[in-house]
Amino acid sequence: MEQVCAVILAAGKGTRMKSNKPKVLAEVLFKPMLGYVLDACESVGVKDICVITGHKAEEVEAYLASRGGSYETARQTEQKGTGHAVMMAKEFLQKNAGKDVLILSGDTPCLNGETITQSYALHKEQQNAVTLVTAVLEDPASYGRIIRDGERILKIVEKKDANPEEAAVKEINAGAYWFQAEHLLSVLDRLTTDNAQGEYYLTDTVALTIQDGKTVGGYIAPDSDIILGANSRKDLFELNELMRKKVIDKHFDNGVEFISTDGVSISPDAQIGADTVIYPGTILKEGVVIGEDCQIGPNTMIQNSVIGNHVKLNSVQCFQSKVDDYADIGPFVHIRPNSEIHHHVHIGDFVEVKNSTIGAGTAVAHLTYVGDSDVGKNVNFGCGVVTVNYDGVHKHRCTIGDGAFIGCNTNLVAPVSIGENAYTAAGSTITKDVPGEALGISRVKQENKEGFSKRKLAGRKKKVEE
Ligand code: UD1
Ligand code: CA
Repeated sequence: MEQVCAVILAAGKGTRMKSNKPKVLAEVLFKPMLGYVLDACESVGVKDICVITGHKAEEVEAYLASRGGSYETARQTEQKGTGHAVMMAKEFLQKNAGKDVLILSGDTPCLNGETITQSYALHKEQQNAVTLVTAVLEDPASYGRIIRDGERILKIVEKKDANPEEAAVKEINAGAYWFQAEHLLSVLDRLTTDNAQGEYYLTDTVALTIQDGKTVGGYIAPDSDIILGANSRKDLFELNELMRKKVIDKHFDNGVEFISTDGVSISPDAQIGADTVIYPGTILKEGVVIGEDCQIGPNTMIQNSVIGNHVKLNSVQCFQSKVDDYADIGPFVHIRPNSEIHHHVHIGDFVEVKNSTIGAGTAVAHLTYVGDSDVGKNVNFGCGVVTVNYDGVHKHRCTIGDGAFIGCNTNLVAPVSIGENAYTAAGSTITKDVPGEALGISRVKQENKEGFSKRKLAGRKKKVEE
């Protein structure tokens, strides 16, 4: 793929999506559609890529920058059709004049690397000026129709411009094309807006190529799903469903167990080990790696995190963190970014951990906040412990040594450190370091006032008689 480049059309508004976002950034399984198209190109080594931006161009350009790759962009300030969009890439095409150019739409996320390489092989083998990717559909819907004379492709007719005979054709234009770049430049200049939509159609380049006496080939995709795009929310939903099932099928094949796939959505890049069981309501967003023999869910969301083997996550939200083997977490736990939960840790209900390390074998069983803290091994947190990490201006860290025992309802006012095997007494607000082995206690001594209620509450009315 040395002598190739690609132009990706991503300027359209996507009116039917009724969204503030540009259509190509609409997400399928947590990734923008444009991302799939770029990934397909990059997976087969297409490196020189020019993206045509227009509607909300800054947002599309920001997305491209966030991917870290190097992309050229060209702006199409007014969207006058797919042919007009490619005209915006003129300089890019002139620079790549000796090469073959692949044209793709930013709204067809199922188009894969295999389709790109196979259609390119046909393009080279037949020495075509243009090679189209086509598919045969039972319902050709609003796609452009491929009009052939026998085997020979003559033209593409848009549904809106088709006569009844043309409209009945079931072979359609997938919107992916290979062109000899120089030839594309020469036909682009000759496009007109003489059609039902008053647009410059890229599809008209086919008839112009035939007029030039050059050859147009067609690669008929064996799997017609690759052409699917999203022009509406319903389309987007259907794409999500289709891809969701494909991803789950892949994990079935890898030995992952699903109790039920209700409410389960898994990003295509997720890795899950064999014997792991996924419960309903599990959402795995991008960047998730899960080991073997885990129990994930129900009602669990994970993003950009690495989970070890034999881990249980029940009703857990976990972001940008690492959870090691045999950790048992949940229900109702929030692991916020930059946390490391070491092996054999137990975290129970209503616990939040943020930007902290929890050492092996430590238990944080109930109603606790651990923020900006370094917690050692085999520490026990009583119920209701709070690390007071924020003074309203700055955040500070707490350090808790191995084997420490933090009594119920302790406030640890950071910065503070608790030594190895030290205790804090229940209900203490700890503002000074506690040395190893010591007990930190900070609360008033208890005093009992005998007969208090008799004096205080004499004559109080009771709701029900005793
Ligand atoms: C187009 C094809 C149709 C094909 C279908 C496949 C034309 C005239 N028709 O129709 O034959 O079956 O794709 O999906 O090409 N875009 C721009 N600038 C514009 C217009 C569109 O960048 O001025 C971009 C859009 O953002 C989108 C892509 O081009 O990513 C396709 O445009 P869209 O309007 O969706 O074309 P279709 O009507 O689907
Ligand atoms: Ca489209």
